[in-house]
Amino acid sequence: MIHLAVNIDHIATVRNARGFTEPDPVQAALIAEKAGASGIVCHLREDRRHIKDKDVFALKDAISTKLDFEMAATDEIIDIALQLKPYLVTIVPEKRMELTTEGGLDIYHQKARYKDLTKRFQDNGIKVSYFIEASEEQIYTAAEIQADIIELHTGHYAESSNAIIRQQSLELLITGGTLAHSLGLQVTAGHGLNYHNIIPIKEIPGLIEVSIGHALISKALFSGMENAVKDMLKLLS
Ligand code: PXP
Repeated sequence: MIHLAVNIDHIATVRNARGFTEPDPVQAALIAEKAGASGIVCHLREDRRHIKDKDVFALKDAISTKLDFEMAATDEIIDIALQLKPYLVTIVPEKRMELTTEGGLDIYHQKARYKDLTKRFQDNGIKVSYFIEASEEQIYTAAEIQADIIELHTGHYAESSNAIIRQQSLELLITGGTLAHSLGLQVTAGHGLNYHNIIPIKEIPGLIEVSIGHALISKALFSGMENAVKDMLKLLS
């Protein structure tokens, strides 16, 4: 069984459209947990376009599964993460103008920096995941800097409308998962995953969890949060 971590960022997107308190990301997280989510993910972006600082602390207090705090490795957000002490931080690249995270983080070219960061979080009792492409150099680096987890970027697979590229992307994810697993890394995956493209992702060896946001929240608009989570869990089982 592959677990499902639910990203509730876009509950905050809808809330922020009017600037009041509804819909409440904490309420969404609690419903997702009740429906079987293994964890709750939120991304505190530099521009605070969806999740706000107060949300992450409220989520940490309210949820009973694990909080996965997605973050760019900037000084400001690192300080917040160390204060928050989530179960896990997932380090992602972040560009100001992007609509969403566009690609994996390059840890290979900044090995020393990410090695220090990994240790800093782990010394504070926080697990560390890197959101990376399924490339050998990134995966070997993740093992070398002693990351706990890698989250494989599934965007190329999910977003390609070309069947050949899609299949090639899936094969890269499978090869990458095999390598990461053999190096003792825990393997998760995310980005662009939905009800139509999730099944082949289950072929990734050692995959323990997927992190899904947009597709779940979109479905929740019509079917409710609980059904959206349960329907995805059925596909993952
Ligand atoms: N994983 C990471 C690292 C992400 O940045 C995102 C987007 O916030 C997701 C998973 C979820 O992506 P989606 O919203 O496309 O399901």
